[in-house]
Amino acid sequence: MAISRDGRDLLIAPSILSADFLRLGEQVREAAEAGADLFHLDMMDGHFVPNLTFGPPVVEGLRKVTALPLEAHLMVLRPEIYLEELAAAGMHRVIVHAEATTHLHYVLGKIGSLGMKAGVALSPATPVGMVDDVLEMIDLVLVMTVNPGFGGQSFISHSFKKIGAMRELLDRNGASHVRLEVDGGIKAGNIARVADCGADTFVMGSAIFCKDPCQKVFREIYKSLSPGG
Ligand code: DX5
Ligand code: ZN
Repeated sequence: MAISRDGRDLLIAPSILSADFLRLGEQVREAAEAGADLFHLDMMDGHFVPNLTFGPPVVEGLRKVTALPLEAHLMVLRPEIYLEELAAAGMHRVIVHAEATTHLHYVLGKIGSLGMKAGVALSPATPVGMVDDVLEMIDLVLVMTVNPGFGGQSFISHSFKKIGAMRELLDRNGASHVRLEVDGGIKAGNIARVADCGADTFVMGSAIFCKDPCQKVFREIYKSLSPGG
């Protein structure tokens, strides 16, 4: 269920990284029923980040469980080698890290030519201006609010300022079609402030899958985001 704040549609993207992988299908269905707008799939190769997760076969499985859009957050070196397989598995959007490829423009072009939407992710120390010259090729920028690699980390407080700077950059360039996504340490307790800085798409892993039932977490999220919440 999309919600609006200050005239902007806000989307919640549960990250399955914190789900129970033995009950993945069930948990994805629960999150979809509770209000997920899309699913965020964190793919890690043990090189770009010191962690390993899953690849295209898991995407194929998830495609059968939900009709909601799936986005891949590639925390891998040489992201270009996985793109054909991801397109075949039914990926809607692929997000690549600006730090993970020497040829960002080429990779984004390849994602588009395979019929997928393209996004660019920036790690905490990467400046917002990194996306300046590729805005026409993407429909999303992902401002990492933790260092990539693991779920359950604390939100880096400098990110409030960085999200605001990214919002300013997008508005200045007339790039209103580009969504501003945040990822890492987002919870019902800080989501309203993050939205006020200009973010409109919220990745949430541990907050959605680790503690309370999904329905309860989504109710808290909507309450925080409602006027006066
Ligand atoms: C971290 C991943 C995140 C992670 C977020 O590298 O990109 O998507 O799942 O987890 P939480 O919401 O627990 O910080
Ligand atoms: Zn992610």
